[in-house]
Amino acid sequence: MCCGIISISSSLIVNEAKDYRDFLPKFTMAFSGLMSVQSLKLVLLPIVLYFIYVYLLKPALHFVQQVIHYHGFPCYPRNFLFGHLLLFWTNFPFPFNVESFQRKFYEETNKMAAHDQDQSVTVCWRSLMPTIIPVSPDAVEVIMNKKSVKKLFFYKFMGLGNGLIASEPALWKVRRKLIEPFFSTKKIKGYAKHMDQEVKSFTQQLNTETGKPVDLEDQIHSSTLNIILKSAISIPLDDSIEDKKTFTELINEGESNLVRRSLNPLCYIDWVAKFTKFGRYYFETCDSLEKVLKKMLNRRKQLLSSTSHESENQDFILLLEGKVDEQGSLDELITMIGAGHETTAVGLRWILFNLGHHPDVQERLYQEICQFFPDDTPVDDMDEINQCNYLDQCIKESLRLNPPVHVFIRELEEDVMVKDKRLLKGSTVLVSCPIIHRNPNVYPDPEKYDPDRWTPENASKIPKAAYIPFGYGPRSCIGYRYALLELKIYTIQIIRKFSLRATRKRESIPIKFEVTLKPCLPLEIIVTPRNNN
Ligand code: HEM
Repeated sequence: MCCGIISISSSLIVNEAKDYRDFLPKFTMAFSGLMSVQSLKLVLLPIVLYFIYVYLLKPALHFVQQVIHYHGFPCYPRNFLFGHLLLFWTNFPFPFNVESFQRKFYEETNKMAAHDQDQSVTVCWRSLMPTIIPVSPDAVEVIMNKKSVKKLFFYKFMGLGNGLIASEPALWKVRRKLIEPFFSTKKIKGYAKHMDQEVKSFTQQLNTETGKPVDLEDQIHSSTLNIILKSAISIPLDDSIEDKKTFTELINEGESNLVRRSLNPLCYIDWVAKFTKFGRYYFETCDSLEKVLKKMLNRRKQLLSSTSHESENQDFILLLEGKVDEQGSLDELITMIGAGHETTAVGLRWILFNLGHHPDVQERLYQEICQFFPDDTPVDDMDEINQCNYLDQCIKESLRLNPPVHVFIRELEEDVMVKDKRLLKGSTVLVSCPIIHRNPNVYPDPEKYDPDRWTPENASKIPKAAYIPFGYGPRSCIGYRYALLELKIYTIQIIRKFSLRATRKRESIPIKFEVTLKPCLPLEIIVTPRNNN
C-alpha cells in the first residue's frame, strides 16, 4: 500500500522536480540583494503557492478525479484498499521477491483481461492507482492513435538515455525522421548480405550442438548482436568478440535493472537513487555500457582509417554525424543496438521452439525453403525471401503467441473515447500483446500454434490492431522490416540444414514480466542434421 502511494506521488512529481530545483535558489539569490526581507516574502509567497498548486495540488486533484472516474469501470475482483496489488505481491507485507512479482503480474493481468474479455478495456488497480488495459482491437486502435506518443517515465529507466524508445514527443519527432532513412528499402536489401554471412557461420556452429537438448540463448544473442553492430557501426562480424560479450551481459543486466527500478519508488529520482546500493549499481551499469560502446566506436575509427578496411558507405553513425551531438548519438546508438539485437534474438528462440513442437509445420516449411533456396544457395535476396509465404506465416504466428516485446505503456495526452467509455487525459495505459493476441473473438483456439491463420484469406479477417508484435501507431517499431528479414534468414538457413524437436511443453514454461518476453525456463530443443547437411 505504502509502496503504491509513494509510487503515485513520485510518478507525478518526478519529471517536474528537476525543472525548478536549479531555478529557485538562483532566483532567490538574485532578488535578496535588491529587496527587504518583508517585500521578499511578499514576492515569494505567490511563487511558492504557484509551485504548491502546480506540483502538489493539481496532481493530487487529478489523481482523485481518476480514482472516482475509473471506479465504475469493469475490473477483476479487487480489494478496496490494495486493489489488485496483493495478487502480485503474494507475501505482503514483507518485501516482495522481484522474480515472483514479475511472473504473477504477467499471469494475473492475463486473467483480468479474460475476465473482461467482452469489454473494450479493463482496469488494473495498483492500490488506488488505476492502469487501463485495452482488451479489444478497437480499444488499441483508438488509444495508440497518431496523437499517442508520450511514453511513461518508466522508459527512462531502460538506460537508453534520450534515444528513440524513451524520448519525449518533441525530440522524438525530429529524431524519428532523421533515423528513418537507415531503414529504407534499399538499405535493408543491402543488410541482407552480412545477415546471410553471419547466419551461415551460426548454422555451422550448430553442428557442435546436435543430438542433445540445448537452449541456444547465448549463441543466438551474440549472433544477432554481430549483425546489428555490423549494420550500425561497421564492426566486422568476427571482430571485438570480448567487448560484444560484455555488451550483451550489460544489456541483460540493464533489462532487469529497469524492472527493479520501476518497482522501487525510492529510486525514481536520480539523485535519490544514487544514495541506495541498487541505485549506485544501476548507474554503474549504464556507465559501463557507454564505456564499452565508446570503445567499439574507437575501434570503428581505427578500422575505417586503416587501408585494409573498406568503409561502409552509410552506417548509422554517418547518418547522425553533424546532425546530433555526441551524447545524442550515443543514446540513439545504444537504443538501436539494444532494441535491434535483443528483441530479434528472443523472437528467434521462440520461433525455433514453436517449430520444434510441430514436425508437420516444419516439413511443409522445409519443402518451401528447398524450392526457393536449395542446398547452399545464398539467402540474401530480400525479394526472393519474401516470396516464401509459408515462412512468413510461421514467423507471424510465433510472434503472435510469443511477442518478444509484450507490453507498451503510454500516458494519454488527451481524453479518448473507447466505445461509450471516456479515458481521461493523463491516464496510464498498458497495452499487452499477449492479451490482444489471445482474444478468442479474433483468434479461435488462441493457444494453438497455427500458421494457417495467416493465409491471405484468413488474414484479411483479422483487424489490424489485433496483431501488434511491433507496436501500433506512430511509435511502432522503426526496425520491423529489418527484424523480419533477419528472422527469415535465420529460419531458412536453420530449417534447411536441421530438424528441430522441442523437449518442454510450451504451456509448462512460466513467463516473467520484463521488457522482452522472457521464459523462466530454458527453451530447449534437440537439433538433428538433415541428410543433406
Ligand atoms: C522481432 C524483433 C522486434 C520486435 C518484436 C520489436 C518490437 C518493437 C515494439 C513493440 C516497439 C514499440 C514499443 C512501444 O510502443 O513502446 C518497438 C520500437 C522500436 N524498435 Fe523494435 N522490435 C524488433 C526489432 C527491432 C530492430 C531490429 C530494431 C533496430 C535495428 C528496432 C528498433 C526499435 C526502435 C528504435 C524503437 C522505438 C521506435 C520509436 O519510438 O519511434 N526494433 N519495437
